[in-house]
Amino acid sequence: MLNIVVLVSGGGTNLQAIIDGIDNGFIKNTKIVGVISNNYGVYSLERAKKAGIESFVVSPKDYPDRDAFNDGLLEKVKSLNPDLIVLAGFLVVIPEKMIDAYPNKIINIHPSLIPSFCGTGYYGLKVHEAALARGVKISGATVHYVDKGTDTGPIIMQKAVEVKEGDTPKVLQQRIMEEAEWKILPAAINKIANS
Ligand code: GAR
Repeated sequence: MLNIVVLVSGGGTNLQAIIDGIDNGFIKNTKIVGVISNNYGVYSLERAKKAGIESFVVSPKDYPDRDAFNDGLLEKVKSLNPDLIVLAGFLVVIPEKMIDAYPNKIINIHPSLIPSFCGTGYYGLKVHEAALARGVKISGATVHYVDKGTDTGPIIMQKAVEVKEGDTPKVLQQRIMEEAEWKILPAAINKIANS
C-alpha cells in the first residue's frame, strides 16, 4: 500500500480526482493518509472532510518567518509518514530540507507541457495567460518528480490539449484540467503505487 500525503492551496479539483480515482478503483494500492493546506478556508479542506480524510492547515501566517514555516511543514509531513508526497495545486516553493528528506518521493502536477511555461512565476492562471499570449496551439499538463529546481525534475507523464480560437485563460485552464490534469495525476500515482 502506497501511503500518500496530498498538499494543496486552493479549490482542490486535482485532490478530488485522486480521491475519486481511489474510490472507483482506477488508483490501486494507494491510501491518502492526510491533506495539508497552506491556506485556511479553502475548498480542498471540505473535499478532504467529505471523504473522511484527516486534513491540516500549515499556514505561513502562524510562523514568525519562512524558515519556521518550512520546518513546521516538514514536521507535519513527517508525522504522517508518507511513502509519496503529491503536490496537487500546492503553490508554495518546496523547502530544500523537504526535498533532501524525500528524494524522488515528491511529485507535482503542472498545467503546461514542460519545458514550456514553467519555472519561477508560472503557476495557476499565469501559465495559461502566458500560453495564450505566445499563441501556442497546443498546451497540456505534466506530472514530474520534484527536485531542487522549479519544475525541473524528471517527467513522469504528459498529456497535450488543444488551444481553441477565443480561449480565455480560465476556459483553457478548465479544458486542461478536464482533459489532462485529472487524468494524468491519478495515472501517475497508480503507476508509482504499482510498479
Ligand atoms: C492546477 O491547475 C494545477 O496544475 C496548478 O494549480 C491548479 C490547482 O487547481 N498548479 C500549478 O500551477 C503549480 N505550478 P486545483 O486546486 O483545483 O487542483
